Amino acid sequence: MSDSSRDTAEGAGWGATELGTYKRLMPHQVEKISWLDPRMLWAARNGVLASWFGDPTGRTRNRWVAQRAAAGAPADKVIRRDDPDRFSFLVIGDTGEGDDPQYAVVPGFLKTGRDTRFAILASDVIYPVGSADDYGSKFFRPYQEYQAPIYAIPGNHDWYEDLGAFMRVFCDDAPPLAPEPAPRPLSRAGLRSLLWHRPRKGDGQRLAQQRTLRSAAAQQAVQPGPYWAIDAGPVRIVGIDTGLLGTLDAEQGAWLREVSKDPRPKILVTGSPLYVDGEHHPCAIEGGGTVDEIVRDPAHRYVAAIGGDIHNYQRYPVQVDGRTIQYVVSGGGGAFMHATHTIPRVDIAGVTEKEFRCYPLRGDSLAFYSRLYGRRLRMRRLFTLSEAEASAVVAERLGIPLTRAQQRTDRITWRTRLVAALLGAGRRPDRTARLRLPVRKIYTSLFSPSSATYSPPFFKQFLRLDVTPETIRLRCYAATGSRAQELEPPVEDEVTIPLI
Ligand SMILES: [Fe+2]
Repeated sequence: MSDSSRDTAEGAGWGATELGTYKRLMPHQVEKISWLDPRMLWAARNGVLASWFGDPTGRTRNRWVAQRAAAGAPADKVIRRDDPDRFSFLVIGDTGEGDDPQYAVVPGFLKTGRDTRFAILASDVIYPVGSADDYGSKFFRPYQEYQAPIYAIPGNHDWYEDLGAFMRVFCDDAPPLAPEPAPRPLSRAGLRSLLWHRPRKGDGQRLAQQRTLRSAAAQQAVQPGPYWAIDAGPVRIVGIDTGLLGTLDAEQGAWLREVSKDPRPKILVTGSPLYVDGEHHPCAIEGGGTVDEIVRDPAHRYVAAIGGDIHNYQRYPVQVDGRTIQYVVSGGGGAFMHATHTIPRVDIAGVTEKEFRCYPLRGDSLAFYSRLYGRRLRMRRLFTLSEAEASAVVAERLGIPLTRAQQRTDRITWRTRLVAALLGAGRRPDRTARLRLPVRKIYTSLFSPSSATYSPPFFKQFLRLDVTPETIRLRCYAATGSRAQELEPPVEDEVTIPLI
């Protein structure tokens, strides 16, 4: 097995001499997403409007579900597959920016997934706003060689145009929803409707043609709606849709309670992770209760809850009444990387640094961002930290052990400490917890992932799960953008989950 980032700097993709072959898979022209572009921010305004004027997602989702039911989708929204007792599947999250990092994951994804029965794309299929026209370069093209079905749950970005394109692609070409009567002009709903972003006229005219890239019989999948359950071999996989603001509508909540009663062991897949960045986000259900309450109920037999939304990998093995539930974040499937070095020293629900795992390692995350800041601000000499310097200062500030043996001798200079502090490494959870989230979001919006400032290592990842009647083996594979890791994707984390 090849080195991972836990073994050597080369295993993380630092100093790679040979770039991966992924560029050959990319379209000739890539439209770069810049989160600094005011037009982009304006197009992605519906999340803000929903939090100001009330969130219409639940109602729109119910209309989509009703439309699918009328078209003959199963009432229990269960996809019944004929997988054997032992089989494997992939999970990949937050893929669709259509740029180098997304395509850099593809060779390793195909190699690792060769013998898998299907893949699940967990949230944010298409950036920036889930348009149908973007499915060609951000979904069908990158995964055209994956010879099995891909099921998906939407993320907030897929909802920015009311989920229309997602429903067409994943739900049997669902036609647009019939227009609703206009709300009263000066009401909250009226103002929202006035400002609401809607799909461009003519969006999706090329979809039928783009679809031909994944038109083999073995690649076809039809979903009963944006949320679903899959009965596969000995397990039930439950996919929920947390919409624009990370919540569940009452109707979906009732469905989740119902499908969770099935006696099989279960895996939850969600757009909004339940444990992330050292915090617990139980995910409210309209009308009362939370998703995590359902997950923790021993009668429901959930063994893992996997969420996207945050573009890296994190795992929290939480003890619940003598059982262990694996809470996983897996959103590093293609889009711009979210920092891990801003995650404070982990101490939540009995999970400490000893049990917690993340990828990229915090030192690598800090080194990555220091390079990015250095280039962006044209102050490379001040900002750029080597991976060894970054790992050493992160270990000092967080009080965590070093992970790569060869770094132990590095001296930590005042410059290293200054850069680490400026980039938010090792925040104390008590004093600055409230600042931390905006800081992370500012990072994301400050940097446009254009290739001028964004080059390997990319620190992307996806999951492979091997299911048997007795266990599920979950592995996190890395994609760095360099050839060595394309040929043999390193395993960054592995856990075996008992089912009996
Ligand atoms: Fe995302």
